[in-house]
Amino acid sequence: MRLEAATSSGPKGNPLMANPSIAAIDVGTTKVCTIVAEVASQRELRILGVGVGPSAGLSKGMVDNIHAAIEAISSSVERAERASGTRIMSAHVGIAGPHVSSMNSRGIVAIADPRNPITEADIHRALESARIVNVPNNREVLHVLPRYYVVDGQDHVVDPQGMYGSRLDVETHVVTSSTAAMNNLVQCVEGAGVRVDSLVLEPLASAEAVVDSEELQQGVALIDIGGGTTDLCVYVNGAVVHTAVLPVGGTHMTRDLVVALRVPQPAAERAKREYGHAIPSLVDEAEEVEVDAFGSDGRKMVSRRLMAEVLQARTEEMLELVLAEIRRGADPEMLSAGVVITGGAASLPGIDILAEEVLSLPARIGRPRHLAGLSDILHDPAYATSVGLLRWSLKEQAIMFRSTPGPIAPLGGLLKRVAHLMRVVLPQ
Ligand SMILES: Nc1ncnc2c1ncn2[C@@H]1O[C@H](COP(=O)(O)OP(=O)(O)OP(=O)(O)O)[C@@H](O)[C@H]1O
Ligand SMILES: [Mg+2]
Repeated sequence: MRLEAATSSGPKGNPLMANPSIAAIDVGTTKVCTIVAEVASQRELRILGVGVGPSAGLSKGMVDNIHAAIEAISSSVERAERASGTRIMSAHVGIAGPHVSSMNSRGIVAIADPRNPITEADIHRALESARIVNVPNNREVLHVLPRYYVVDGQDHVVDPQGMYGSRLDVETHVVTSSTAAMNNLVQCVEGAGVRVDSLVLEPLASAEAVVDSEELQQGVALIDIGGGTTDLCVYVNGAVVHTAVLPVGGTHMTRDLVVALRVPQPAAERAKREYGHAIPSLVDEAEEVEVDAFGSDGRKMVSRRLMAEVLQARTEEMLELVLAEIRRGADPEMLSAGVVITGGAASLPGIDILAEEVLSLPARIGRPRHLAGLSDILHDPAYATSVGLLRWSLKEQAIMFRSTPGPIAPLGGLLKRVAHLMRVVLPQ
């Protein structure tokens, strides 16, 4: 049986662990990945253990079989627990799926006494007022992300704290999600014995892991091409202006190969990973590879050029969908840093070249970096979301500490939050 929620209030309450630890679970359409990491400093993560297993019970990023999903999550969590020698009590969890939608919203508050500088409490009130958007009963607000502030008409203020004014506006990007889809995901994670610390929109997490601050400033789109979804997040001037989750991904590429080559799905998947390419002209026309096949022989030779043509057609179509979605959020001209492609399908050779052609923007592949500890496997684009969930939670906790209303946090409240930080994992 799992231990009950720990009540330790810091490293002293947890003598085997020098630094606080956090856990993240990326419940993807093709894999579930759980990571336990130690927080060495604000931005530094030391990976203690990773547990990866095949996903089940998910389609297009959403749960469609709770029992199968619970089993897949439990298995990934257990692997991470064994690898790290910890018990995972709670974790930050990624959410995606076509049910997610987003809009921009403005919050406005009056500053009670304009003779005093604007406080974090005022900023908090402004963000709360931006949260009051017209959301139907069956949806919930997942994130309210500040884009910029306006103080008495002065536009594009990055941080209004300490400034003087009588009115504070905040422009935000609000992400909403279907309540049912959120509940289903939470139920699956809790069914695996892990409490959910926070739900984070997956492309926001992926961006934390693979996009540089300079790229964010100069304008960039993060494209995470997974198995069942392609997630998008557009940044202009360092802030999110658009997010979207498209119901297409690597499984569609594999399905096209099944149809074109007439081979079973596992053979098509293997062939795609081993011999796939997004640019047919870069593949030798005469090259053939042997794959498992339907029919009496059970094996057949297929042309690599043909495979690349099939993959190119599907990838191009997906990138065109992405471009249409980018345009809904920003003029692509504003994305000087272009696009960063991540997710498992980013490993398809030539996908960055194809993206440059289709999007007419610079493109690069995003791999998680700056990780210490048992992190070898995580330098692959498929782990951008999992690593990003940890980074996002670190950033959020920093904001949470900073945005405590009033100059001095009440001791009880602060301790509670520290306890919350520390009780995520326990040594076994
Ligand atoms: N070398 C490769 N070439 C092409 N595709 C690849 C390669 N390696 C992995 N993929 C594809 O990446 C996809 C899985 O990506 P990822 O692990 O990011 O998905 P996921 O997070 O489980 O799914 P989602 O985010 O859509 O819910 C699969 O479709 C797989 O075929
Ligand atoms: Mg994913």
